[in-house]
Amino acid sequence: MAGQRFDGKVVLVTGAAQGFGLAFSRAFHAAGAEVALIDVNIDEAEREASELTAAGSGALAVRCDVSDEADARAAVDATVARFGRLDVLINNAGLHLTKYNQPFGSLGATELRRLLDVNVVGVVNCALAASQAMAPTGGGVIANISSIGGYLSTTPYGVSKLAVRGLTVALASELAPIGVRVNAIAPGLMATENAIADLPPGMVADFVENRQLIPRLGGVDDVVSMMLFLCSDSASFVTGETVRVSGGYPLGM
Ligand SMILES: NC(=O)c1ccc[n+]([C@@H]2O[C@H](COP(=O)([O-])OP(=O)(O)OC[C@H]3O[C@@H](n4cnc5c(N)ncnc54)[C@H](O)[C@@H]3O)[C@@H](O)[C@H]2O)c1
Repeated sequence: MAGQRFDGKVVLVTGAAQGFGLAFSRAFHAAGAEVALIDVNIDEAEREASELTAAGSGALAVRCDVSDEADARAAVDATVARFGRLDVLINNAGLHLTKYNQPFGSLGATELRRLLDVNVVGVVNCALAASQAMAPTGGGVIANISSIGGYLSTTPYGVSKLAVRGLTVALASELAPIGVRVNAIAPGLMATENAIADLPPGMVADFVENRQLIPRLGGVDDVVSMMLFLCSDSASFVTGETVRVSGGYPLGM
């Protein structure tokens, strides 16, 4: 991704073992950052961290369930212990499979709590732990992952991602005094392996042909380039925003 460099910066990515989180970790590392890969899937995170370390600047894997406040703090502490500081948090870990897009009446309270614990409380846990670590060095950047589902919020998943948009504004306000910017990206339908495998037949074609303005399937690179921009000094006057990267669906005033 041309232009954005993160040499000397430390970046923590949640949900880093696969999909968007893995792509963010690789992109920040390639741009010069030291990267902490945080995931419940520690085996994959460790494998990737070893490969990144062999290829350049440092990388660290930490097992962490973001819905657990103590886990989130421990992951941030381990990152600072290893790299000495924390500059960027990517709040990417999330539950998003089709089962969370069924009606509230079908999902049940146990699954609903788990969804909100990971997608909403997890963002707060990591943001608060990370911002405390950022404060001593003058601040930093937090980027959350919402979804276009957060604009069409008729399902439990959509409501969880609407909450992420709200949290982005709330945390931007709360953390501005310590120099932390907070923004979000709302990806559209994207070709991450897990998402595509889970979708009902015909949904991708319907999005691309009938709903988007730009008639191609979005890919991780589309989101990675926006992420690098939002976390860089080029976006130093941008906070509290959710940016849709969705080929123009859904537009609205
Ligand atoms: N793929 C899409 O089309 C799409 C579109 C819009 C938004 N999103 C959002 O982007 C994010 C990543 O999506 P993806 O497609 O890469 O997902 P994915 O399922 O491929 O990867 C998610 C990662 O998060 C980890 N994870 C899950 N729960 C966790 C927890 N409690 N603590 C720590 N790690 C946990 C998983 O182990 C996995 O490695 C999610 O927040 C998702 O809602 C995805």
